[in-house]
Amino acid sequence: MKQKQLHIPGKRLKQYEIVQLIGSGGYCKVYQAVNIQTNENVAIKAVAMSTFKNHGGLVGQLHDTEKQNMKLVNSNYVVRFIDEFQQNKYSYIVMEYCNQGDIEKLWLDNNKHFSEAQTIFYVKQILRGIQDLQKCQVMHRDIKMKNILMHNDQIKLGDLGFSKSKLKFMHLVQQQQSYDIDYWYAWLHGSRSCSIQTILQYGGYFQSRLFDLFNDLWTITFFRLKSLNLFV
Ligand SMILES: Nc1ncnc2c1ncn2[C@@H]1O[C@H](COP(=O)(O)OP(=O)(O)OP(=O)(O)O)[C@@H](O)[C@H]1O
Ligand SMILES: [Mg+2]
Repeated sequence: MKQKQLHIPGKRLKQYEIVQLIGSGGYCKVYQAVNIQTNENVAIKAVAMSTFKNHGGLVGQLHDTEKQNMKLVNSNYVVRFIDEFQQNKYSYIVMEYCNQGDIEKLWLDNNKHFSEAQTIFYVKQILRGIQDLQKCQVMHRDIKMKNILMHNDQIKLGDLGFSKSKLKFMHLVQQQQSYDIDYWYAWLHGSRSCSIQTILQYGGYFQSRLFDLFNDLWTITFFRLKSLNLFV
């Protein structure tokens, strides 16, 4: 059955009734839905499982990472995980619904401009989100306007697909599973080949909360300059 028919308004997926399409990414569609048992609005991210193997398995990996790391975080400034299920060849993540969508839309609707006061207000909340992620040992790594959502004028960080959990990483280091270690090394140094000895040499980096924070913070600086139209 085509996605169009599966996800039209009024269709039921488990206890969730589709309301409308609210966003899309490279391999996903995001729908607003209502939990008919509780009347709660939710957002449902749908990914066709047939795409999981695309890009050497990256699509499936991002989807799994997003689920796993969302479950680790409990913050008013990060989109909350609610449920997950698979049905009709799709894999679904049910999460908190953000009623103002992403802030890129808000920025575009506002002629690509936020006032300084607005920007400061947003940046403060984004930093709170990053701080809460840090407390849960999660690094976002993909902070951009499309992944920053807004609900009742409050920022919520979304899209944890590219995020990394340090707890999981340290566990892998102990087991010396080199695939993920390569991944971290590639992220740091832009290359996918390294040995366990090399990565352990860089252990100091991973221990450092400051280093993680820096990675997410440079994006915030970019956001601040962009939202104020200081550069395009
Ligand atoms: N919880 C939510 N509430 C409201 N809108 C949402 C929610 N989650 C996602 N969206 C909308 O759907 C869009 C795509 O979601 P998301 O970024 O999670 O998917 P993605 O596949 O990772 O996208 P991309 O590849 O473009 O980063 C968001 O930019 C936003 O507009
Ligand atoms: Mg995204």
